[in-house]
Amino acid sequence: MTATTAIGIDIGGTGIKGAVVDLSTGELLSDRVKLATPKGGRPQDIVETTRALLATVSQGVGDLPVGVCFPAVVKDGHTMSAANVSSKWIGLAAEALFEKGLNLPIHFVNDADAAGYAEAQFGAAKGVAGVVLLTTLGTGIGSALLNDGVLVPNTELGHLEIDGHDYETRAAYSAKEREKLSWDKWAARLQKYYSTLELLFSPDLFIVGGGVSKHHENFLPLLNLKTRIIPAVHRNNAGILGAAALAARFPS
Ligand code: BGC
Repeated sequence: MTATTAIGIDIGGTGIKGAVVDLSTGELLSDRVKLATPKGGRPQDIVETTRALLATVSQGVGDLPVGVCFPAVVKDGHTMSAANVSSKWIGLAAEALFEKGLNLPIHFVNDADAAGYAEAQFGAAKGVAGVVLLTTLGTGIGSALLNDGVLVPNTELGHLEIDGHDYETRAAYSAKEREKLSWDKWAARLQKYYSTLELLFSPDLFIVGGGVSKHHENFLPLLNLKTRIIPAVHRNNAGILGAAALAARFPS
């Protein structure tokens, strides 16, 4: 039987967040605990911080499935890239490392894929037929490609090369902050990015996630696309929800 409660942990470049999730509603059953990502983002340090976080989150809830999401390509439990974390993650048997450090089995997945799965289960992509492309605009750009609710993992569309740039360096929310771009200036870059995605994938729906999507009225109306583009429902909690839901669905 699939568990109805699970723990999701979302590892990011600046913070590691986790909570207990009610999988019938997609609501958090505990406070969301957040610890700073250790400086340098090295594997052993991140595992240690994740262990401390899990100890707090799992207090009094018994044994639950645990899902962990991470900002890298995840293939057979290995992290195969490292865009905004230490290069020590490349080629690392990360799932096994977490399982050893946490002393329990986990489900390990890319962070944007977890967010996409969460939106398909509990949010803006629920029941949507056809091709849905979710992008998270944060430190980098994460992507999740869904067709009729089925996820194609590790699409990494934040790294599309446009005008000679790895485009997440131009259009992620971190680029807006770093370069102090106005909403208009940032939207012009997003226009180029989403037009390219539209050309390549002819999606039925774009969903925009990441913390900045709560300010969607400042930039989504500035975009001129054929495809409907809407904010994610779960924003900053999407990774937690998706990792938890995947852990329950695919017990290790
Ligand atoms: C990484 C992706 C990740 C995204 C969002 C990108 O830089 O390559 O794996 O999903 O950032 O965190």
